[in-house]
Amino acid sequence: MTTTIEVGMLGLGTVGSGVVERLTQAARKIEQTQGIRLHLAAVAVNHLNAPRAVKLPIGTRLTDSLTNVVCDQRIQLIIEVMGTVATAKSAIKAALNQGKSVVTANKDLIATAGAELTALARRQHCDLFYEASVAGGIPILRTLTDSYATDNIQSVDGIINGTANYILSAMTAGQTYGDALAAAQAAGYAEADPTNDVGGIDAAYKLMILSRFAFGQGLTFQQVAPVGITGLSATICQTVARHGWQIKLLAQATQHNQQLYCRVAPVAVAQTQPLSEIAGVQNAIAVQSDAIGASLYTGPGAGSTATANSVLNDVIVAAQHLVNGQSAVNTALPVNQGAVTNLADLPQDYLVVGAKAVSAVQVYANEVDFSLQTLAPDCLRLNALTARQRQQVARQVQVTLVPIAGTVRWPAATKNAITTPVHVAI
Ligand SMILES: NC(=O)c1ccc[n+]([C@@H]2O[C@H](COP(=O)([O-])OP(=O)(O)OC[C@H]3O[C@@H](n4cnc5c(N)ncnc54)[C@H](OP(=O)(O)O)[C@@H]3O)[C@@H](O)[C@H]2O)c1
Repeated sequence: MTTTIEVGMLGLGTVGSGVVERLTQAARKIEQTQGIRLHLAAVAVNHLNAPRAVKLPIGTRLTDSLTNVVCDQRIQLIIEVMGTVATAKSAIKAALNQGKSVVTANKDLIATAGAELTALARRQHCDLFYEASVAGGIPILRTLTDSYATDNIQSVDGIINGTANYILSAMTAGQTYGDALAAAQAAGYAEADPTNDVGGIDAAYKLMILSRFAFGQGLTFQQVAPVGITGLSATICQTVARHGWQIKLLAQATQHNQQLYCRVAPVAVAQTQPLSEIAGVQNAIAVQSDAIGASLYTGPGAGSTATANSVLNDVIVAAQHLVNGQSAVNTALPVNQGAVTNLADLPQDYLVVGAKAVSAVQVYANEVDFSLQTLAPDCLRLNALTARQRQQVARQVQVTLVPIAGTVRWPAATKNAITTPVHVAI
């Protein structure tokens, strides 16, 4: 028997168009395998008369009123793919308050208001899913929830901003930062205002969400304190690559001695590591855990079809819950709020690039107590540099210091440790 679920969607841009397309293409499969017919009853947009990339199914209402969709009594499930924070938040709250399940791709909103919205969803016994908010097409949140249910995750290291990775790959191939950014914009990979991508802000939001699933612990934006890629140049990327590393904008969260550490920053990844090979707009998340060991999840981090696929997978799970009358199983949010330290605060090895920079640091190293290794006339490795020493070096000689992945010197266990096992259900 097939049950029809009435769906409303907010937004019909890149992701929304993909949802309409995938919904049409996969309708038969969804019906056959799930026994569900997803009927797109209404779609809200901002500009009613703007040209659209897709044709809506016959009978789907197009409106420029969010209320018209959110307050439609027949609609049981809302897909929010319009972006924005305040508007999307109030629309999602309104939907949840009326007992509708919600699927969203909105990382900015979920990173900053996920706890509040999840609490509301739980009170309302509704689903709130957001797989597409992290790494677009890679089903990483559900994988962390389902496949690591009995495992203990030690670290997640992600390349989760395709635009930044595209620019870094292009700079490593010799393009200037400006040319690489312009090429990313021309290809539709970067927004007209690329601040969130190149400033590490988008990656920070995604890490804040990932951390909840991997460790059951939320991170604040201040704790992540993202560092972007704007301070880098083709020379730095190429020199580092000649000496055996690739610079990647890494989003990292690690549990060590039951304490959580995090960072979003450009990091030199050894070319022997799989993450170093993730090029262009691809995303990847490396997970280290007790039972599985090292695993790598890679795929498209954005794009209409891949992101829409993640959205629809959430829709199907939420629709199944509606059909079965199941009390919704939410992304139960972590209660744990243990201390968090930024990885930049720990001693670790750094690379310094550029002939002038190298000689300046060599002179300075004679005055201050840190050890360095000259890899080439234009590349130095500073070993076990403390945060204080790093700040001193950066202040005195104004160089770009790139941390080397996997070289952190861990402190001994502290009292502020995560003590309860965490589990996140979706
Ligand atoms: N693009 C990706 O690959 C990707 C990947 C992962 C996650 N996401 C997330 O998915 C969401 C959507 O991204 P997108 O790239 O699809 O955005 P987009 O192409 O800019 O589309 C936004 C859509 O929302 C509509 N909209 C905006 N404000 C509205 C309002 N106040 N009322 C009604 N409709 C409104 C727009 O209407 P008009 O068309 O009439 O202007 C447009 O159709 C964002 O949260 C984004 O972060 C995107």
